[in-house]
Amino acid sequence: MPRLVVISNRVSIPEPGKPQAGGLAVAITGALDEYGGLWFGWDGETSQTATSQPTTVQRDNITYATLPLSKEDYEDYYLGFSNEVLWPVFHFNLGAMDFQLKYAEAYQRVNERFAGTLNTLLEGGELIWVHDYHLLPLGKALRKKGVKDPMGFYLHTPFPGYDLLRALPGYRGLLDDLLHYDLLGFQTNNDLHAFRQSVIEAFGAEVSGDANECKGRQVRTGVYPVGIDVEALTAEAERSCDNEQARQLREDLGERDLVIGADRLDYSKGLVQRFNAFEALLANFEHRRQKTIFMQIASPSRSAIPEYDELRRQLEEMAGHINGTYADLDWVPVHYLNQTFPREALIGLFRSARVGLVTPLRDGMNLVCKEFVAAQDPDDPGVLVLSELAGAAKELNGALLVNPYDVRAITSAIEQALNMPLDERRKRFQQMIDVLRRNSLLEWRRRFIDDLAHKPD
Ligand code: G6P
Repeated sequence: MPRLVVISNRVSIPEPGKPQAGGLAVAITGALDEYGGLWFGWDGETSQTATSQPTTVQRDNITYATLPLSKEDYEDYYLGFSNEVLWPVFHFNLGAMDFQLKYAEAYQRVNERFAGTLNTLLEGGELIWVHDYHLLPLGKALRKKGVKDPMGFYLHTPFPGYDLLRALPGYRGLLDDLLHYDLLGFQTNNDLHAFRQSVIEAFGAEVSGDANECKGRQVRTGVYPVGIDVEALTAEAERSCDNEQARQLREDLGERDLVIGADRLDYSKGLVQRFNAFEALLANFEHRRQKTIFMQIASPSRSAIPEYDELRRQLEEMAGHINGTYADLDWVPVHYLNQTFPREALIGLFRSARVGLVTPLRDGMNLVCKEFVAAQDPDDPGVLVLSELAGAAKELNGALLVNPYDVRAITSAIEQALNMPLDERRKRFQQMIDVLRRNSLLEWRRRFIDDLAHKPD
């Protein structure tokens, strides 16, 4: 197998002796370890001036090569074009889009700088795998430098429908960028169809099976839903029974039911509607008062962007309002934690919860809901309430599926989940865990890498 080169905006360099942060990072590291490879991207730091000189770190079979972003590029490429233009458009939120020409220029500039640096690190005869919306133009920039090796691109977010995409100035250029990859991977069929429809409408592409012929180029497309490592998570959840923090939590909960949500603090996660739904539960189902706790963990994210800061303030206000209205001497209904939690603790919390609330307004896949399911005790599992507009809803039909904008439906689903008899909970859990085992994280990366490596005749 040729050497693997992975490029993503953020690079996760493992600290010796410490577990790696996310499941996805573990999967990518696993692939790099298996084939030997290079992981390239931003180091998460800002510097006074832009540099093209990477810092490299060698860990076993893997070279990590990273660059800082200049302050200007951080603001215009990362916050600006990536997260104030592409992120909202790709998540159905045109109202939050703030298009500025300097953002678009920085996006091109950084992608070209990344391509220039990466080109000096390539050995030839490799497989190149680019990740996510920050790097749509990277493939074309590498091709311009003469790179001929197979190049794949995987989009972790949804792909917007053509009508939405057209609202993005310069969208044709971005579509054209994607046509320079050999293989494009999407989370769901919807995303794949939205992409195909866009290249048909914009360029009159010819589409047949997995092949797309467009502007004289051949691009293959496929659906590769990101999964989780079920075995690792289950083992972690079982260990969490002995975890001091989790034990303490169960003791504090006593007979009370825990309803839990854990997300990045992002407007796409539907947190305002979720808080409203919990408030309506306390208002309309009085027997839930005193007996139910809603814990929302919201890890800080992109806080320099006004919409994110505003959302943080709004949620603090809502949590204060609900607690002010309903709390008692010995019961605080909403536990709102605006912090990043260690993974082991989170898994322990999931296992203690009766209901997992995962209600994004739009999400490419959403791995939290999959982790919630895998963390459950098979003999006494909690219930997942899941947004129909998360990619994961296509796989997890054992969840109670809701429209995330429909507050009343979320409230009813929480009540239904809290009342659900054990045999139904077990049946739903079994359906979901079977799917998660089939569509595992290992399967995801193996299928993508195999398809990239083997061009059909
Ligand atoms: C989403 C994106 C990822 C991104 C992550 C965290 O899941 O698809 O590419 O890394 O959010 O966001 P951040 O802006 O902190 O990298």
